Amino acid sequence: SRSGRRSLGRPSTTSSGACPGIAGRSYRDICPILKDPGALTAVIDLFEEHVRQTHPQVELIVGLDARGFLFGPLLAQRLGVGFVLVRKKGKLPGPTVSVAYKLEYGEAEVEVQEDAVAPGEKVLLIDDLLATGGTLCAACELMKKQNAEVMGCMVIIELKELNGVEKLKPNTLFSLVQY
Ligand code: PRP
Ligand code: MG
Repeated sequence: SRSGRRSLGRPSTTSSGACPGIAGRSYRDICPILKDPGALTAVIDLFEEHVRQTHPQVELIVGLDARGFLFGPLLAQRLGVGFVLVRKKGKLPGPTVSVAYKLEYGEAEVEVQEDAVAPGEKVLLIDDLLATGGTLCAACELMKKQNAEVMGCMVIIELKELNGVEKLKPNTLFSLVQY
């Protein structure tokens, strides 16, 4: 799966945090953060500080299926704002809107409930990791389709060599660590 190649795996024993991957790729793992309450608090602290300083007007945190769901609600609670789920196709009940995007092999689709975001609402998107930027880019499009105001995107890990930040433009990215 894409997750296996890019960001899910066993905790690393190397100092860089890179894990041996499938088909010779290395990948980055967020599981050790979740296992360590102090580390998880520190991650949410950093996101909270960034949002309070840079986007204090934010009205909603939008998290991406699946690993954006691990951090988004914690941040939203800290900020005292709501959390909205952008899911992979076919998971959400009720009327939905979707955006399709290209994967390395094939296509994927992200969806949100039609009434989840109000026109003009100020949203920040969160995911665990930016690789090619395809997933976050599609989620931003989805928000724009709903006439939300996208204030920016946030991830824990940015894989710089894939240049996802370029794909995301004009949307901005805040990342906690870069490789
Ligand atoms: C991974 C990661 C990001 C995405 C980044 O999700 O969690 O969401 O890939 O890749 P991109 O920038 O090239 O789009 P994935 O769909 O593999 O699995 P998940 O459901 O476990 O989050
Ligand atoms: Mg993901």
